[in-house]
Amino acid sequence: MSFLRHKSHTRQSLARDLHGAGVRAGDTLIVHSSLRKVGWIAGGAQELIRALQETLGSQGTLVMPTFTFSLAGWQLPPFDPCRTASRVGLLTDTFWRCANVWRSAHPTHSFAAWGRLATQIIDGPLNYEPLGLGSPIDRACNAGAKILLVGVEQNRNSTIHLAESRAAVPYLQIPFTIDDLYDEAWYVDAPSGEARMLAIREMPGSSEGFDVLDEVLVREEIATRCALGDALCTIMPAQRLCDFVVRLLKEDPLMFLNHENPSEITKRRRAIVESQLTMNRTSP
Ligand SMILES: CC(C)(COP(=O)(O)OP(=O)(O)OC[C@H]1O[C@@H](n2cnc3c(N)ncnc32)[C@H](O)[C@@H]1OP(=O)(O)O)[C@@H](O)C(=O)NCCC(=O)NCCS
Repeated sequence: MSFLRHKSHTRQSLARDLHGAGVRAGDTLIVHSSLRKVGWIAGGAQELIRALQETLGSQGTLVMPTFTFSLAGWQLPPFDPCRTASRVGLLTDTFWRCANVWRSAHPTHSFAAWGRLATQIIDGPLNYEPLGLGSPIDRACNAGAKILLVGVEQNRNSTIHLAESRAAVPYLQIPFTIDDLYDEAWYVDAPSGEARMLAIREMPGSSEGFDVLDEVLVREEIATRCALGDALCTIMPAQRLCDFVVRLLKEDPLMFLNHENPSEITKRRRAIVESQLTMNRTSP
């Protein structure tokens, strides 16, 4: 690790940065992060979590993704919320293990939450769309959450998947991978300890196309640039973001499939949607 010790950040300096970024006591805050971008933190991820909790205060709520993509077809073990490591960053994997943090049960896209609205955001039936209507991100958005992107850009912002779902874009049901292994996840059933299968109703899939929003959202004054330690960050209200993206998607439902270097997922989705549109036009 090549951090310079003299640039060390502390809980107090990070709390000051969070306040400067517009995080306030009582807020509900969704955080997506690259810890490395923050620079060296004395005490590590724990201290950043404490800085977030102290800034949000006793009436605030902190939410992070703890996605595990526990798919039987990907040879990953069944999801156990008390054991399975988060695959979306060290901060998130440290967070769900902290005291008084709740973790949702979804085997591909679980979330962890702490604070006043934690259980309201986390609890819910298991057969919801992972990042769509009725998911924790939907409930956090409805509760007036702000989103803080720490050292990452809009292509890591799960709330944009919620906007895809709210706008009912035509590719949500199109499988994530060529081999169709994305449609069945599995998890450890708490009372019995047995592995259970769960059909995935929507495929959040690739977010590579979300980067078209990086500058637009700042220009439209929906998102604001800020800093946390050494990391360039962006903060925005989730509901305003969602409403804005839904409006864009109503005008152009395929706008996120136009990436200049599309991945296999994006190419596949675009090809399938276009062939469906052609079939609809030619059928009598
Ligand atoms: C993939 C991703 C997590 C990688 O970011 P990263 O900064 O390289 O990795 P992490 O956040 O896991 O942090 C680990 C790094 O923290 C750093 N670290 C360790 N101790 C630290 C400390 N005390 N202070 C600061 N950083 C420290 C280390 O560099 C470590 O990396 P290393 O073990 O390879 O040296 C990030 O790019 C990303 O995409 N984040 C968002 C994920 C997300 O929310 N996805 C959902 C939406 S689709």
